[in-house]
Amino acid sequence: MRASGEAPGKIILLGEHAVVYGQPAIGVPLSRGVRVELSSGSGLRSVTLKKGIELSTRRGATTPQMLIDRALGALGDEVDVHVFFDIAPMSGLGSSAALAVALLRARDNFVGRKTSARARLDEAIAIEDVAHGKSSGVDPAIALAAGPILFSNDGVTKKVRTCAPPQPLHLVVGARGGHGGTGRSVGRVRDLKSQAPALIDQTMSLLGSASRTAAKAIATHDLDLLGRTMDLAHGVLSGLGLVSDAIEDVIRTARARGALGAKMSGAGGDGGAFVALAADRASAEKIRRGIVQLGALAWCETIS
Ligand code: PMV
Repeated sequence: MRASGEAPGKIILLGEHAVVYGQPAIGVPLSRGVRVELSSGSGLRSVTLKKGIELSTRRGATTPQMLIDRALGALGDEVDVHVFFDIAPMSGLGSSAALAVALLRARDNFVGRKTSARARLDEAIAIEDVAHGKSSGVDPAIALAAGPILFSNDGVTKKVRTCAPPQPLHLVVGARGGHGGTGRSVGRVRDLKSQAPALIDQTMSLLGSASRTAAKAIATHDLDLLGRTMDLAHGVLSGLGLVSDAIEDVIRTARARGALGAKMSGAGGDGGAFVALAADRASAEKIRRGIVQLGALAWCETIS
C-alpha cells in the first residue's frame, strides 16, 4: 500500500518574533515545499534534497527522523518513509512545519482517516515543537493555508484570517545559509525582554502594528506602503540583532535593484530567509538575479 502528502514552505511577510508575544503576523505559503511518500515496509527512511539544498549538520539540529517518529508513532515501524525537500531546512522557509503537515496528510491518506482543520493544526504544532521548542504556531498555520494569512495566538486562541491580495503580488524569496535554530533566536529576544520588558513589549507592539498596516496595504494593493512597512520592520528586527551581515547584503542588493521593500524573514540569526517586494514580474526577476549573484538561493513567487 502507498500514500503521499505534500505541504508548502512559507515566508513570513511581517510579524515574526512579535507573533510569539501575541501580535499578528502575515504568512505566505510558497510554491515550493516538502513531499512525503509512505509505503508498506519495515521502517526504512530516505531523504532527497533538491540541488543546492543541504541538511544541517549542526549539533542539536532537528533531524527529519525526529519529526517522522513524532508524527507517525507506531505506524512508523510498518512503513517506509521517503521525504523530498524542495526548500532548505533550518533557514526560515518553514521546512519543519511543511514536513509535519506533509507527514500528517500522508498518514491520514495511508490509514484513511479524516482530521478536522483545527485538530490538524494542533497536531502539526505539537510535531513542529520537536524542532522549535514552544512556537507560536504560525509556520504550521501557513503550511495548512491555501493563500496568505493573518495569524495570531494569544496563548488561548489561535486566529487564522485569509489575507488575499486583490491583484497578484510579486515577491522574491529565498535563503542564505541556515539561521542556526528558531529556539536560539527566540531565546535571544526573550533574554532581552527579561532585561528591558517595557522596551520589548513596545517593540513587539510596533511590529504587530506593522503587520496590521501591511494587511490593509495588501487589501488596497498599496505596494508603496507595503514595501515601506517591510523596510521598517526589517530595521527593527536588525536592531534586535537578528540579521546577519550576509542577509543585510541581500537586503541592500534587493533595494538597489529596485525592490519596493525588503526584509529578513523568520527567526533570523546567523543567516536565514528573506523576502523582497517587486513592482512587477520583470522587476522581480532583476532583483532575483542580483541576489543569486551573491551566492544566495532565491526565486520569484507570484502571490494571488
Ligand atoms: O523558524 P522560522 O524561521 O520559521 O521562524 C518562526 C517565526 C518565529 O516568530 C521567529 C517563531 C514563532 O514561533 O513564531
